[in-house]
Amino acid sequence: MIALAVTDLTCEYHRTLLGTDCKRPRLAWKLVSDRRGTLQTAYRIQVAEADAGLAAPLWDTGRVESDRSIQVPYAGPALRSRTRYLWRVKVWDNFGRESDWSEPAWWETALLSPVEWKAQWITPDARAIDPESEPAFLLRKRFTLRGPVRSARIYATAAGLYELYLNGRPVSDHVLAPGWTSYRRRHQYQTYDVTAVLHAGENALGVLLGDGWYKGRLTWVPGRKNIYGDRRAALVQLHVYYEDGTEEVIVSDPTWKAATGPILFASIYDGEVYDARLEQPDWSEAGFDDRNWAPTEALALPLEHLVAQENWPTRVTEVIRPQQVLRTPAGDTVVDMGQNMVGRVRLTVDVPAGTRIRLQHAEVLDREGNFYTGNLRTAKQTVEYVARGGGPESYAPHFTFMGFRYVKVEGLPVQDPSALLDCIAGEVIHSDMERTGAFECSHPLVNQLQRNIVWGQRGNFVDVPTDCPQRDERLGWTGDAQVFVRTAAFNYHVGPFFTKWLRDLRADQRPDGSVPFVVPNPLDDYHDPNWKGDGPPTSAAWGDAATICPWALYLCYGDERLLAEQYDSMKAWVEFIRAQGEDEYLWNTGFHFGDWLGLDAKENNYVGATPIDLIATAFYAYSTRILRDAAVVLGKAEDVRTYSELLHCIQNRFREEFLTPRGRLAAPTQTAHVLALMFGLVEGEARERTARELNRLVVENNYHLTTGFVGTPYLCAVLSDNGYHETAVRLLLQEEYPGWLYPITRGATTIWEHWDSIKPDGSFWSDDMNSFNHYAYGAIGDWLYRYLAGLDMDERAPAYKRIRIYPRLGAGLLTHACATLESPYGRIETAWRLEGELLTVAVQVPANTTAEVILPGASLEALRESGQPLGAVEGVHTAEQVPEGVRLTVGSGAYRFTYPFCQTGPATPIDRKFR
Ligand code: BGC
Repeated sequence: MIALAVTDLTCEYHRTLLGTDCKRPRLAWKLVSDRRGTLQTAYRIQVAEADAGLAAPLWDTGRVESDRSIQVPYAGPALRSRTRYLWRVKVWDNFGRESDWSEPAWWETALLSPVEWKAQWITPDARAIDPESEPAFLLRKRFTLRGPVRSARIYATAAGLYELYLNGRPVSDHVLAPGWTSYRRRHQYQTYDVTAVLHAGENALGVLLGDGWYKGRLTWVPGRKNIYGDRRAALVQLHVYYEDGTEEVIVSDPTWKAATGPILFASIYDGEVYDARLEQPDWSEAGFDDRNWAPTEALALPLEHLVAQENWPTRVTEVIRPQQVLRTPAGDTVVDMGQNMVGRVRLTVDVPAGTRIRLQHAEVLDREGNFYTGNLRTAKQTVEYVARGGGPESYAPHFTFMGFRYVKVEGLPVQDPSALLDCIAGEVIHSDMERTGAFECSHPLVNQLQRNIVWGQRGNFVDVPTDCPQRDERLGWTGDAQVFVRTAAFNYHVGPFFTKWLRDLRADQRPDGSVPFVVPNPLDDYHDPNWKGDGPPTSAAWGDAATICPWALYLCYGDERLLAEQYDSMKAWVEFIRAQGEDEYLWNTGFHFGDWLGLDAKENNYVGATPIDLIATAFYAYSTRILRDAAVVLGKAEDVRTYSELLHCIQNRFREEFLTPRGRLAAPTQTAHVLALMFGLVEGEARERTARELNRLVVENNYHLTTGFVGTPYLCAVLSDNGYHETAVRLLLQEEYPGWLYPITRGATTIWEHWDSIKPDGSFWSDDMNSFNHYAYGAIGDWLYRYLAGLDMDERAPAYKRIRIYPRLGAGLLTHACATLESPYGRIETAWRLEGELLTVAVQVPANTTAEVILPGASLEALRESGQPLGAVEGVHTAEQVPEGVRLTVGSGAYRFTYPFCQTGPATPIDRKFR
């Protein structure tokens, strides 16, 4: 093993970054060391243009005395457009060791200024093709290259969705490009390396162009379509660098030709209709005869707001095979994928030409076992394929995605239905984020819950954090996103994903600081009669995504730059709230979603019983606190003062309004108590009383929750933090309705929108709002990682620079739990296991970090690390006996602690009282 090495170089979170317009990209690396307690003491970075090579660096930091190994901004000479940069790094550590240079990594700039766009937005000539009709367009251009090519890049995007072809081949595996942004203000383009596909002589480019989010139907509102524009367009710019050092640029312009092809219809919600008999073979090959194709014309769409791809690309990340073919009581043939998934079906068939196959997609079967589409509302999620014939053919839709577990198949002539198992494969589609976390414990249903959370995240992180992936909605609901962001950041690396989304939030935030319900916001000029109130459509706990999400990214990734970028947006949100209502410190006006879907809601009312003004004021305090904390990080002294005072006033006002003088919270709901505790609105005895009361509310309800979107995410955390961990564990393990495990006993493979999406009697929640893939209640994942397994951070040293490991154990109801996280500094692991009376806690701490480890119930005398008494253990810096057990501070490395542990009765006094 190498003593000290540098690995995992990333630039703006990417291992390779092809096409960024970031002018000061941030670099990061990880250390690998064979010694415990390793810290970086210095680094040296070299960056060079790839053509020059690292022997001639453009930027050499020299030795920099610093422990910083993440978020290190490039600070060399201005970067040039369309240039590849190599970089490498070496480090020194606290043992005086010097590493070798790392393997070089690279990033590449795209177009750093809009003036470099020479291409024009093009679309079929209005006179030739009815631009109002729905078929996808084919656009093509033949071009000649005068010699051998050294390298070539395409920068491309679309108003709509596009797939790009070069010489008959797709140029990438991206799907649903260019993704969804607030197109009027920000429009992503993609960069492709096409060096290998070009050759001297004749070549051809082809673009397949569909509607997507840009054009066509979007949102549930009848008739609402073409929100961003009523004509699709493509923008393509190919830069060819010849072996001889010269350069040529081929761009989209009205010399391109257009036609329609096999895609007769494609829509995000409704599916796709594809007639393979209309395919034009070789349409993106140079030799194709396009004489009969129509002309194109240029559209005057803007170029100024084009941005290079920020998010992870969306891809097919897994292919799943169906599990069984069912014949329903109604006589339908239905394929069961075995997993509620998001993506599309790939159909592989060998049938006569003209065979019309229809695939309908649904999430569940009804009580009778029939195919059920009621909860899709108006979304059709239907694919129709007309076969080409003459041999095996394979097809998957291009410009749509579906949320489904069951596929109803019609029109496919097979003798034996089980043959369908070979015809259908499920292609899982989402933003291709790096997987970072895993959680597991001794309870199989909890493990299934964790799997469901991950599937919920995959299905709803299709470029935008959506509420659901199936009905006529699929929108970036801000409330859902803020509720789930911390859980999301455990399971996957969501840095690029939320960076992009938060920039859209900023772009769509209104001048008065209010934050729309959904981002990107296709609802801005729409007023739903249900959204009562005079103000702009915004809501507490939804708009607070403006503060909660950037803060979460700062904590999880140390992303100070994003925090700085978002700061004005965060401040505008808080100032917006301050301007609401008649009282500066109370938010008691306007429309709010309240504790959405809380079970204490009155019949047929979606809004839980917790008073709206209590929720709004509690979140007002929380957002103000986050803003104040962000001001501290960013060194804005004046704002630190202003918002500390504001916070103080809100807290006082909250207490005057909602707390009796003797410390009783005026609203007797679980959610009210959760928020008061979580957001620090009760102190001292009132805090104890509030916690006691929350515990009572849960215990008296037989360990069932009543919370909705707003209270659920924090419920277990505040119980665990305030002495009622056992109650939290019992809540988690509740298998009866309502609780996290109830859906699993009903066979759920994703998180449901309602605690009773399927009721105990097998009937459904009403059709109008019943998603079986809604990640919001999956926010319990955060507690699984941080409390049950105990993998957490000290927030004063974000990005897990100072790790906090404190497994709260399973209150005698679980025997082990473990979590891993590929953190910015490297892999963190924590695993506890109780065998008889022996508790083992294994932890791994990455180099260049330290950890505080709390071993519950341990005594200093009996504690061993890898069999040794603590005194002799390398890497353990301090050890002390504390009320919880033993508190250690340790350096990097792997440790295995063992000690006798005896579960002494119920952990919480109140439990005893109510038993
Ligand atoms: C969505 C929710 C969203 C809500 C607003 C629903 O239709 O699916 O998840 O947050 O509207 O209350």
